[in-house]
Amino acid sequence: MRVIRTIAELRAWSREVRIAGKSVGLVPTMGALHEGHLSLVRAAKGSCDAVAASIFVNPTQFGPNEDFALYPRTFDADCALLETDGVDVVFAPAPDEMYRPGSTTFVEVAGLSERLDGKSRPGHFRGVATVVAKLLIAAEPDRAFFGQKDAAQVAVLRRMVADLALPVELVVSPIVRETDGLAMSSRNRYLNAEERKQALVLSRALNAVQGLSLGGETRASVLIEAARRVFAAEPAVRVDYIAVVDWATLEPVDEIRGGVLFAVAAYVRKTRLIDNFVVE
Ligand code: PAF
Repeated sequence: MRVIRTIAELRAWSREVRIAGKSVGLVPTMGALHEGHLSLVRAAKGSCDAVAASIFVNPTQFGPNEDFALYPRTFDADCALLETDGVDVVFAPAPDEMYRPGSTTFVEVAGLSERLDGKSRPGHFRGVATVVAKLLIAAEPDRAFFGQKDAAQVAVLRRMVADLALPVELVVSPIVRETDGLAMSSRNRYLNAEERKQALVLSRALNAVQGLSLGGETRASVLIEAARRVFAAEPAVRVDYIAVVDWATLEPVDEIRGGVLFAVAAYVRKTRLIDNFVVE
């Protein structure tokens, strides 16, 4: 497995692969890898001839009071996992490589970027869209792989790729959960034993709502209220949002139907966690 630090080298590698008639998959990550990331790697390996994974803790997607400095950096362990899973290239640029000193160009997906996590974390999706656009332009992959856990991010990136007519297919893989239901996240490492238990309220709330929805309940207000009741039983956890939205636009909807996203975000002490399900 080759570790690449510059955009020029990454582009040269990708072009070489594609000139040989092979396809390139890209798995963008911020490192601190878990089974959720590895499921993306496996999906990429399953449908692309050569796979690059990026590891870059992107400063522009963190707000001033967020966890950029604290974000777990586990580069050697990440590389070992990626190598075991057969990744060909790890792209691990320095911040200056992704953001040339003095650079002032950003990608803004207007509207969507201010909804859900974008509302609670102003500027977050501008940072995500900018870095993912840079990665796509650098790696020129045939397919790029993202997790459904970050469902609002997926909506923003799908819109960006469509609006900019970027020649890449976005592939979205299902949420990977711990055996007790907690959605896997690099931020789960912040939780102590007590908080880890409290965090289960997110998946409990989603299970309750999914049960009602499977039983025929379609009213968003009723489902949101049901989730709220589950959260109320775990007062240590502070709800950020409970939302029923169209997955493409992130606009609220009144009725659950195909293509609707039921998403929750909540703080377990200082750790912000998200989870969701999509109505097919
Ligand atoms: O989902 C993530 O880990 C990040 O938002 C991403 C897509 C790698 C951009 O930094």
